[in-house]
Amino acid sequence: MSKTQSTSEQTPSGELRNTGTLEVKDSRTDKSYSIQILQGGVEGDTAARAMDFRQIKTSPDEFGLMTYDPAFMNTASCKSAITFIDGDKGILRYRGYPIEQLAEKATFLEVAWLLRHGELPSQSEYDQWVHDVTFHTYVHENIKTFLQGFRYDAHPMSMLCSAVAALSSFYPEAKAIHDPEQRNISIVRLLAKMPTLAAFCYRHIKGLPFIYPDNSLSYTENFLSMVARMSEPKYEANPVFVKALEILFILHADHEQNCSTSAVRAVGSSQVDPFSAVAAGVAALYGPLHGGANEQVLRMIGEIGHPKNVAGFIDEVKGGKGARLMGFGHRVYKSYDPRAKIVKALADEVFKQVGMDKDLEIALKLEEAALNDEYFISRKLYPNVDFYTGLIYRSMAFPTDFFTVLFAVARAAGWLAQWEEMLNDKEQKIARPRQIYVGYGERPYTSKLTTRFPSTSKDALRK
Ligand code: SDX
Repeated sequence: MSKTQSTSEQTPSGELRNTGTLEVKDSRTDKSYSIQILQGGVEGDTAARAMDFRQIKTSPDEFGLMTYDPAFMNTASCKSAITFIDGDKGILRYRGYPIEQLAEKATFLEVAWLLRHGELPSQSEYDQWVHDVTFHTYVHENIKTFLQGFRYDAHPMSMLCSAVAALSSFYPEAKAIHDPEQRNISIVRLLAKMPTLAAFCYRHIKGLPFIYPDNSLSYTENFLSMVARMSEPKYEANPVFVKALEILFILHADHEQNCSTSAVRAVGSSQVDPFSAVAAGVAALYGPLHGGANEQVLRMIGEIGHPKNVAGFIDEVKGGKGARLMGFGHRVYKSYDPRAKIVKALADEVFKQVGMDKDLEIALKLEEAALNDEYFISRKLYPNVDFYTGLIYRSMAFPTDFFTVLFAVARAAGWLAQWEEMLNDKEQKIARPRQIYVGYGERPYTSKLTTRFPSTSKDALRK
């Protein structure tokens, strides 16, 4: 059932309201309970507090009823006012603004401000924000040495995850997470330094000298300059690439409680500094089922190799032997991911400029085949944001294993906005889920060992 959100300009309360009760009867005790049904800002968003079920017991000394939800398929871990998704209708809004309008008209830093503050910046707010982010793009020189410690063939997501965590050691004051000023400077620093770290990872892998930020350029132009500048005194970015990357950064900026954002919220709930919490988000995004999918899409298309092989590949996926159509399917979207529509149109624009990408034909054929095949239709599998992005990144000559780094640069805006919203939510505390124990009952320890120090380890000890 899709959700409908009011289009009112009225500032949302951000609070949950009671909208009815759930009457439950425990057949074990014949006792009945009345559980509050809570509603957020949209009709479809209703929930019962899991803690309200703890009163349901068969005896006073019992722990009480928990809710069991592997992978949180139906669990709201928080209330949030940042991003609204209607998976049935393919709707995505940041603070109420449709993604289509933001992608077409806004800048990435304007969106980063919106995600965090809840309103679009005034000109003076925006000017100060751009100034602050621009003048924090440099990283400590030791970060260069740190990155040079990686092998030439290190995966850039592994490097980025480590480098973001390392920032925590350069800014120990970031631990003061309840100090709004410290929080603000940490957010500025991380947003500013993500492109620098990403570009440094790229340059290391390529065996090229690191290019320092050029503070006379915009956020996206500066990133491309740090990635691609060679001996020229000033880098002139291709305006089509600048526009495409700005739009892709906006599309990837936030997406409510996805795997990596949930990781940032959970790690951040221990009150660790934001650099360490965001490093956890980078690690989660690295996974092939999440942000790593854009890299896997290109590898999948490479393996297919030719449009004539598409039908055979689709049969392989349907054969259920584990092959997945990467870039398809989504936990929330059960219709076309609105971002994928925008990216597909962007791909057409970019390829007009740089020439048709031979693999785009395979991608289009894959999409056409899947959208008309009962296997995918019945499972509501549509292209997601990752299906076409890789083709654009490759047209910009980014290496395939760098695609998810580009996702991480953009998602830092959402991770930080969600992290701060979690800190300011009076209901939040350290995340510590329960479990349903299904292991052994108590049993006495009877070792099966005849010696604690097998001969090999004794020999090792002697050397
Ligand atoms: C992102 O959460 C977010 O918001 C993420 C993201 C963001 O902005 O943060 O949107 C970014 O991560 C997009 C998703 C990128 N991942 C991929 O493209 C990888 C391929 N897609 C999937 O693995 C899968 O669709 C997920 C992980 C995205 C969603 O998985 P779910 O919701 O857990 O669904 P599921 O694995 O339970 O699948 C349901 C059924 C299964 O079939 P049956 O067991 O019922 O027979 O659909 C099948 C799956 O086998 N299925 C697929 C498929 N995805 C699901 N079959 C073939 N190809 C696929 N891509």
